[in-house]
Formats: sequence, structure tokens, C-alpha cells
Amino acid sequence: MINPVYSPDPSRYQNGIRFRRCGKSGVLLPEISLGLWHNFGDVNPFANSLEMAHYAFDHGIVHFDLANNYGPSYGSAEETFGQIMKKSFAPFRDELFISTKAGHDMWPGPYGEWGSRKYLIASLDQSLRRMNLEYVDLFYSHRFDPETPLEETLQALVDIVRAGKALYIGISKYPLEAAQFAYRYLRDRDVPCLIYQGRYNILNREPEEEGILDQAAENGAGFIAFSPLAQGLLTSRYLDGIPADSRMAKEHFLKSSVLTPELHAYLVKLNALAASRGQSLAQMALAWCLKDSRVTSVIVGASSVAQLADNFKAIENTTFTAEELAVIDQG
Ligand SMILES: NC(=O)c1ccc[n+]([C@@H]2O[C@H](COP(=O)([O-])OP(=O)(O)OC[C@H]3O[C@@H](n4cnc5c(N)ncnc54)[C@H](OP(=O)(O)O)[C@@H]3O)[C@@H](O)[C@H]2O)c1
Repeated sequence: MINPVYSPDPSRYQNGIRFRRCGKSGVLLPEISLGLWHNFGDVNPFANSLEMAHYAFDHGIVHFDLANNYGPSYGSAEETFGQIMKKSFAPFRDELFISTKAGHDMWPGPYGEWGSRKYLIASLDQSLRRMNLEYVDLFYSHRFDPETPLEETLQALVDIVRAGKALYIGISKYPLEAAQFAYRYLRDRDVPCLIYQGRYNILNREPEEEGILDQAAENGAGFIAFSPLAQGLLTSRYLDGIPADSRMAKEHFLKSSVLTPELHAYLVKLNALAASRGQSLAQMALAWCLKDSRVTSVIVGASSVAQLADNFKAIENTTFTAEELAVIDQG
């Protein structure tokens, strides 16, 4: 049987989504964005990936975050997204905000990772081909390269924008000092950094503690939180053991050794607090990130539509009492 043509929900912007301005730019991003790091590779069933993408768009989650090496295999999440573009999203390209990145290990040899001009430009050209796109909305330097002159990396980003291959530029996981240099360099060339992407969640507050959040705001950039659920730790997933189909069971990016009895006890406490707020643990964890107006959006991962639907409801309540915050901070 031929799959029917996708027709998105006409109420997609009335289903509860809210948008926040990204720093001092003209861009509004949905409070919940969808990341394709896991569950969109060629090892995953395409039908499930497609269903999640449709659910997202039908709920106004119009920002999709990718990178060159998401999969596995490397590149295959972009290929999956390219298929989704072709099959479903092509008529809606101007409603979508699509990001990709280069910086981590992608192809063999000296030109397949880090921050050289050679790598960044070649990688984006590959990404555009895989995704069936003429341009991305946002291109990131995925990590700071301590060996390449930062000017070279940043000038490549500027030139990518000038060439029309990306509309905006972002940086990810840059240390404070390098980020400051980047903000200035890019602003001086009239390609202001749109956004900083960093790991931020209840269990990892480095961007707050190290001043990354303040710095982004001071420089007119937005901040987008990745792994806001700590890869699933901040959900009900691991409250009663390690499910066979979970990320932790794969023992790769999320190791079972992190789930100590102390952490488990803390998660149980957080879960009870979430229940008292009428939320799931995942919803409360996302709401916790979004309570801060410096956070433009959270990029969630999901392995099913049910998880994404659960996460979407986080935006219904993003305020906390001082007592609730005190319980969360006790961890
Ligand atoms: N810039 C960077 O260096 C960087 C690094 C990492 C990630 N990212 C971006 O951030 C995105 C999100 O990262 P992440 O996948 O680590 O995010 P996350 O949202 O912290 O974790 C996602 C995982 O949590 C579980 N989960 C999600 N919702 C759930 C729910 N409602 N109930 C139970 N379990 C739930 C699922 O795990 P199961 O698979 O076990 O079901 C899911 O795969 C990535 O896709 C990528 O776009 C960027």
C-alpha cells in the first residue's frame, strides 16, 4: 500500500506550542525542539522516525537539530531527514528551522573533524546533499578546536553565511573565553552568533555556573539546552531498573555506572516532586530548564511518539515555587 501524502495539522500553531525570541535576533524558536542524535539513523525503523517528525511538526515543534555524524551510521540521521523532507516536509520548508553541525569525528584522515575551513565547508556541502536542502537555517561549529586558529574556524562560518549555505551561525560547547572571542569576531563581520548550544539540565548546571548563560545573553545570543533530560536519566525510564530497549542498556553514550544508588534515590525524590506538580519527571526536568528566560529552547531526544508527546506537555507549567526549587537543589 502506498503511504498517503502527509498533510500537517492545520492547528499546528494552536496546539500549545510557545515561541521565544532567540537572543536579540529576529528568530523565534519553539520552546521544545527535536534533536536527531539518536533514533533517526539507518539502524532505526524509518516509520518511527517519520512518525516522530510528523508529531513534532503537527505540534509546532518546527526546529530540528542535526549534525553531520548523527546516526548511526554517521550521516544517516541527515539522510533520514532528507527522506522526510522529500516525503513530507518539502512544501513546508519555510516553516522549518533546521540546524546541522560539524566539529566531531566524521570521516577518516586529517580533514574529517575539528575546526579547519577545509573540514567545515566540505562537511556542510555533504550535509546539504544528504538532507535534500539548498541551505540550513543554522550551522554550528560543534566544538572548540584548540589547535586551529579560532579566526580560521570563525571566518569559515562567516563565509558559509555569505555563500548562502546557512542563514545563521551558532557555537556549541565552546569554553567561555573562546566563546567571547567568537561573539566579537562574528559581530564585527555582521554575522552575529545566533545561539550557543550547551548541555544543561538539573544534573548538569555548568552553563549557569561557568557564566555561559549570562555571556550569551550579554552578547545578544540565545542559548539552547541539549540533553535536557540527561539522556533519559531525568525521566521515569530508570526508576525501576534498566529497560532492555533503553539508551543505557546499549552502554555506549549513557553508561549504567552513572546510575549509582545515590542518584537513583535522588531521581525517585524528583519523581515524587514532579507528581506533586501534576507532571511526569521528564516534563518537570524540561520545565526546570525553561523556567530561565535566558534559555531559548530545549532540544529533546525521543525514541517514540509517546515520549515526545509526554515532553511536549512540559510547557504547560514552567514555573516553580521556592520550596520546589529547594527540593531540586538538594541533589
Ligand atoms: N551539541 C552537542 O554536542 C550535542 C550533544 C548531545 C546532544 N545534542 C543535541 O541534543 C539532542 C537531545 O539530546 P539527548 O537525546 O541526549 O536528549 P535528552 O532529551 O536528554 O534524552 C533523550 C532520551 O531520553 C529518553 N526520553 C526522552 N523523553 C522521555 C520520556 N518522556 N519518558 C521516558 N524517557 C524519555 C529517550 O531514551 P531512550 O532511547 O532510552 O528511550 C531519549 O532518547 C540531540 O538529539 C542533539 O540534537 C547536541
